[in-house]
Amino acid sequence: MMKVLFAPLQGYTTGIYRKAHAEIFGGVDAYYAPFLRIENWKPREKDLRDLNAREIPQIIANSVSEFKILADVLIAKGYTEIDFNMGCPFPMQVNRHRGAGILSDVQAVQQIMDEIAKLSSTTNETAQANAKKTAPIKFSVKMRLGQESPSEAFALLPILNEAPLTQITLHPRLGKQQYKGAIDFKSFEKFYEESRHPLVYNGDITTVSQICEMERRYPKLAGVMIGRGLLARPSLAAEYKVQRENADVQDVQDVRKNCAISETDFTNKLFQMHQAIFDNACKTYQGDSQILSHVQSFWEYLEPSISKKIFKKIKKAGKLSEYQQAIIEMRG
Ligand SMILES: Cc1cc2nc3c(=O)[nH]c(=O)nc-3n(C[C@H](O)[C@H](O)[C@H](O)COP(=O)(O)O)c2cc1C
Repeated sequence: MMKVLFAPLQGYTTGIYRKAHAEIFGGVDAYYAPFLRIENWKPREKDLRDLNAREIPQIIANSVSEFKILADVLIAKGYTEIDFNMGCPFPMQVNRHRGAGILSDVQAVQQIMDEIAKLSSTTNETAQANAKKTAPIKFSVKMRLGQESPSEAFALLPILNEAPLTQITLHPRLGKQQYKGAIDFKSFEKFYEESRHPLVYNGDITTVSQICEMERRYPKLAGVMIGRGLLARPSLAAEYKVQRENADVQDVQDVRKNCAISETDFTNKLFQMHQAIFDNACKTYQGDSQILSHVQSFWEYLEPSISKKIFKKIKKAGKLSEYQQAIIEMRG
């Protein structure tokens, strides 16, 4: 069975969201936190506060010096697995040479991989002290094929192959495409053949049968990472796991015939998850606008599952009382 990883989405998969998802829907092997970045020459406090235990934090950096500052602060907090972002297509990051903007800079990536090699050969003393056992630090990479051309990823591949990475997650688009346009499966397949590290596929997965299809087409694949598909159907990972466990392992085709969760169960769990997010956001934040940003974003990708009228009310609510009224209406 393949691993199913929850992709990080800044503004959507917040710490509160990830915790509630793990408790209520589950089925996910690891949650990746949205990237931690440098702001005013220091790690951004807001990003650090948002991290839960037992998740994988991610960093975005344009140089080995930024990388070191961010990795050090996470190691000091006891994290032993860190993901490095080489895929963010937002112009704010790309123009600062971060995310997909670093893919064309072979030298910067080489220096970061050298730092990863150094850090991987040490152990995390904070984690060691807490867990009373050795805790080597592991690094993974999440990347695109390039900012402008897939040749960027292939120019980096020999360097990545030499680095002690635990896995590479590949979103087979270019930075300039952002999150739309055709996925380049041809380049993905070439990367899949040539990567020495376990490879995770990311991009546009929304159904159990798509996960199974990836498993069938790419037997060496270590897993799939899913973002928008899980936000739109939070039961997706658990449904895959249940169906896969029930099916004859030899026959992936069989998995597609079952449907794991009834619509009633789905709706009940969805409201349960919403309540957990709502309660936690009210405990953690003060003022309607901060709480609203957490709960309103919960519904964003669920739009197809709820009535248009209610969705509009949720989005338009400027006060918590207006929002709560919309939720009462939705529950009927
Ligand atoms: C609004 C938004 C925020 C995102 N934030 C991050 C991030 O912080 N780190 C990251 O690696 N990817 C980020 N991504 C990319 C997703 O992790 C994922 O790669 C992308 O959505 C494609 O996968 P999907 O089709 O399964 O959603 C973001 C995407 C969106 C749309």
